[in-house]
Amino acid sequence: MAVRGQFSNRLGFIMAAAGSAVGLGNIWKFPFEVGQGGGAVFVVMYLIFCFLLCLPVMVTEIAIGRKTQRNPVGAFNALGYKKWNFVGKLGIISGILILSFYNVVAAWAFGYVFEMVMGNFDIGNHFTAYTSDIFKISIYAVVFMVATAYIVSQGVSKGIERATKIMMPTLIVIILFLVIYSLTKEGSLEGLKFYFQPDFSEINGKVIYGALGQAFFSLSLGMGALITYGSYFSKKDNITTSASIITLMDVGIALIAGLMMFPFVSFMVHNNPQLISSLIESKADVAAIVAANPGMSNLEIFLLPEAGNSGAGLIFATLPTAFESMGAFGNVLGAIFFLLLSFAALTSTVSLLEVPVAYVVDEKGYKRSRAVWLMAGIIFLIGIPSMLSGGYSAFFSDFITYYHAEKSTGFLSFISDTASDTFLPLGGFLITVFAAYVWKKENLQAELAIGAPGFEGSLVSKYISFAVTVLCPLILGLIFVLTVLGKFFGVEVFG
Ligand code: TRP
Repeated sequence: MAVRGQFSNRLGFIMAAAGSAVGLGNIWKFPFEVGQGGGAVFVVMYLIFCFLLCLPVMVTEIAIGRKTQRNPVGAFNALGYKKWNFVGKLGIISGILILSFYNVVAAWAFGYVFEMVMGNFDIGNHFTAYTSDIFKISIYAVVFMVATAYIVSQGVSKGIERATKIMMPTLIVIILFLVIYSLTKEGSLEGLKFYFQPDFSEINGKVIYGALGQAFFSLSLGMGALITYGSYFSKKDNITTSASIITLMDVGIALIAGLMMFPFVSFMVHNNPQLISSLIESKADVAAIVAANPGMSNLEIFLLPEAGNSGAGLIFATLPTAFESMGAFGNVLGAIFFLLLSFAALTSTVSLLEVPVAYVVDEKGYKRSRAVWLMAGIIFLIGIPSMLSGGYSAFFSDFITYYHAEKSTGFLSFISDTASDTFLPLGGFLITVFAAYVWKKENLQAELAIGAPGFEGSLVSKYISFAVTVLCPLILGLIFVLTVLGKFFGVEVFG
């Protein structure tokens, strides 16, 4: 086997793993999932899942990767459990599927850089026309995939580390600026309430599996991305501490992204009350819900899943209005924002591509460059239906209607539902079952103790043991069943 790359130091690993974690999941997906999941209840569930369930899974993935120095499939083989390498294969399939649609959304974001420069702030009102413009989008998508492939072909540490160290802090500064700006806007308080004041009566199966899927997606878990990155992690470093830092950063950025979005949305709704009245007039199901729930605020009405505003278009529709309200400064800030968002997406696409590439390099003996371009090409092709589902093709835009569902689901959302909300928690379930009962928790603990003085016997070590042996298998297994039944078959087990 070829000599493996290594991150130059602990900060390098953390930056790369955080670069993988922080991406469209935080800034694009998190706010709209919160919007569709009923606001603060979703946020609370998400936080609980991130720290209690996902952090132990993350630690386990990194430990397996560092122990075996392999890709997700090779890792199970190297530990001597070939039968379990189907978990790695499932992960590679999930990664390929996720990248196939992720690249399309990244292409939308990248294209917005040019739209903002041109001052095309009205684009938020024509988002479907934009995503249907298949000529433009496919060019952006090709550029994005080529950039991803180029960085991956340069090897792990060189390309990824450097990009992340500069981009991420800058992105955080801009988001924080937008947070402050949005809070000065009239009507923004309603947004804060929606975001921070949980109404636990709204909890249901959908909120729970949505929050779990989001936690896995956002932390890049459940498909072996962190097994792969862990394989480049040094024996001198502390896995648990690093994983905690990554989780905190990722969650922190998602939270401030929401803090920027909801006040903006509520400011927009506040300024255009006719938005709500026309919504009620044009959509019978929205009108029915409003009639049945007299206390609903305009913001809540606007964000109802039935209203169709809170889906994949949320940041793309809302933010241009916000930038427009800043005058000429808005062009610059808008362009920089979407440029940095594109970079955040790029460090994530890189980690998604790295997994199948590491697999064919390690296991099939491909040369790195050949593996990279081959995989990137295949994944691009798989992403074409997702690209067409932005409105260009009616067939892919209304691809499937789940059993008992009222509305159809587009191809892109279908793949996201399958891969991120279903396969990732399933992968997390299988990884913890494997680590606890097949590889054995003592071996996991021994790996975690390397580079971590004081870990043995500590409270953290006890919690990880408990989570990996009991909590994760139980809850992840349960929610997986709940997801499949609820999402695809319309069977709500509770709520
Ligand atoms: N976490 C990234 C985001 O939030 C997406 C991502 C990158 C990912 N690598 C992954 C998701 C691996 C699941 C698995 O944008």
